[in-house]
Amino acid sequence: MSFIDTLPKAELHVHLEGTLEPEQMFQLAARNGVGLPWDSAEALRAEFTFTGLEHFLRLYTEGCRVLCTRQDFYDLAAAYLRRSAAEGVLRAEVFFAPQNFLDRDIPVTEQFGGVLDAIDDARADTGIDGAMLVIAQRHRTEAAALELLEAVRPFRDRILGVGLGSAERGNPPSKFARFFTAARAEGYRLTCHAGEEGPPSYIREALDVCGVERIDHGYAATQDPDLVTRLADDGVPLTMCPLSNLRLQVTSDLSTYPLADLMKAGVLVTVNSDDPPYFGGYVNDNYAALERHLGLGNAELAALARNSFAGSFGDRSAVDRGLTAVDDHEPPAEVTAGAGWR
Ligand code: ADE
Ligand code: ZN
Repeated sequence: MSFIDTLPKAELHVHLEGTLEPEQMFQLAARNGVGLPWDSAEALRAEFTFTGLEHFLRLYTEGCRVLCTRQDFYDLAAAYLRRSAAEGVLRAEVFFAPQNFLDRDIPVTEQFGGVLDAIDDARADTGIDGAMLVIAQRHRTEAAALELLEAVRPFRDRILGVGLGSAERGNPPSKFARFFTAARAEGYRLTCHAGEEGPPSYIREALDVCGVERIDHGYAATQDPDLVTRLADDGVPLTMCPLSNLRLQVTSDLSTYPLADLMKAGVLVTVNSDDPPYFGGYVNDNYAALERHLGLGNAELAALARNSFAGSFGDRSAVDRGLTAVDDHEPPAEVTAGAGWR
C-alpha cells in the first residue's frame, strides 16, 4: 500500500462506458449475443494505442454496443464503484452519455435504473458517494442535446449535472449555448470538456458563452497565460486526465505535463482517469504517474486530493468531510517504516 492507495480522493472525470474492461466487454457480448470485431480481450487490448480522440471514440462506441439491459448498466457501474472505493475514492461524479443507447432504443429507465441501483448499492456496501453527470455528445446537433434533456427529465432528481463530451475539434462549446442555458434553468450543475484537443478559446467559450462551473481537461489553458490567471482568480476547477492525454497524443511526455505549472499558478487542478482500461490506469495510476514523472511529493499529492473535493459538485458538508479525510490521512505503515517518513 502506498500513500496514494490510501489517500482519500474524489474522482470528477470518468466516463462510465469508458470503464468497461475488455473481459467484461466480452462477457456482456456473449450474454447479449452481440458480435465483436476482435477475437479476444487480449486482441482488443492490443488496439489501445490511439492516434487521437476520434480514433479512440470509434473504438469506445463499438464497445458500447454490448451494453443493452438494466443489468448490464448495473454491472458496469457496480464494478467501477467497487474498484474505486478500494482505491480510496470517497466520491465519484460519473459521466454517462445516453445518446448512443437511445439510438438503439434502449429506454432511459433501463439505462438509469441500472446505474442508479448500482450507486445506491455501492453506497450501502462501501460508503462511496456516487453521482451522475449526463453527457451530451458534441458531434451531434444542439437540437439532439435539447432532446436529451427532455428524455432524462424523469430522472431529474437523481442527476447532479450535465456536460459535453465526444469529438471536440470543430464542435465548440458555443454550438451548445442554448443547451447549457436550458440545463441551468433546470438547476443542473454545468461542466464541459474543453481544451483537450481544442484551443484555449474553447475553454473561454465554455466559461463565457455557456457559463459552466468546471472545465474537463483544460489542457490547452497553458497556451494562454491570461486564461490561466483567470482560472486561478475565479477558482475554476480543471479535471485533468494525464494518462488519457498521453494515450490520445494530447501530450507526448508526462515529465512536461502542465499540471505542476497550473498548480503553481494557483489553478484548482484535479487528477482523474477519463476511460481507465483504454488509457492504462484508474485514478491512482494517474496520481502515481504524476508522482513519478513530475516528482510530486506527498504534500502535493494531498493538495491534489484536497482539490478533488473542493472542485466537486458536492454540498458543503460533503466537501468538508472530504477535506477533513485528506487532512487526517496518515501514510500507511510500510511507507512510514520503509521510506523514513517523519
Ligand atoms: N468520451 C469519453 N472519453 C472522452 C474524452 N476523453 N473526451 C471527450 N469525450 C469523451
Ligand atoms: Zn472525458
